[in-house]
Amino acid sequence: MSVAKKQYKRITTKSLVEMKANGEKISMLTAYDYTMAKIVDGAGIDVILVGDSASNVMAGHETTLPITLNEMIYHASSVVRAVERSLVVVDLPFGSYQSDPKEALRSAIRIMKESGGHSIKVEGGKEIKESIKRILNAGIPVMGHLGLTPQSIYKFGTYTVRAKEEEEAEKLLEDALMLERLGCFALVLEKVPATLAERVAKSITIPVIGIGAGGGVDGQVLVTHDMLGMTHEFHPRFLRRYLDLYSEMTTAFESYITDVKSKDFPSEKEQY
Ligand code: KIV
Repeated sequence: MSVAKKQYKRITTKSLVEMKANGEKISMLTAYDYTMAKIVDGAGIDVILVGDSASNVMAGHETTLPITLNEMIYHASSVVRAVERSLVVVDLPFGSYQSDPKEALRSAIRIMKESGGHSIKVEGGKEIKESIKRILNAGIPVMGHLGLTPQSIYKFGTYTVRAKEEEEAEKLLEDALMLERLGCFALVLEKVPATLAERVAKSITIPVIGIGAGGGVDGQVLVTHDMLGMTHEFHPRFLRRYLDLYSEMTTAFESYITDVKSKDFPSEKEQY
């Protein structure tokens, strides 16, 4: 059992800041439904992210852009019903916070009220500063997200590593400092050079949770379906697969089909 699982009955935004101060790494995974959230929470994960990656993983869209606020609320409320210990962070979806701060606040309030999530996550830096301020002023904890921000994929054009050049790296560091100053409780850094991520983590007191950002940050996040090997066509360098569920599930489904076709299932014992 991890130190954090023993020490914290319930993870809060404050626990994460304490964990960073104590040098304990933070574990974070995604979940979008009750059953998965129950297993992930029971295993002792610190943070569950109801990511807008649900748009890809659950709905099969090519990008995260199409998922709606109502759909995020549906996923988040299913997750919240399962969770006893983890901190639940819910992504504000594309289009629900970028246009104006009042709309951003309305979207964040809907997430908190209708799903019971514990905090929200937004992508971007100074462009969305006013929205973040307004959400924080309403008492809603905010996690930032810098580096590769998939909601801006059409601006970037590719999913390659961000902030390799000095100018973009400096802007990212400035944005991270600004997010800390505003009062965000943590920050996700996605697909940036490990040296830059470590520099950011050392420059701020709030935890930096990396995905493809190396080991010098304060915690790690992966998409659960990827680390379980369910999405076998996706294999970026940063992804460690802990299972090959795609193959294992396929084998199970094939066995079931064979058993049904051969009339082996159900047996005498499996009927009333
Ligand atoms: O939506 C998501 O799953 C995310 C993680 C990749 C950090 O934002």
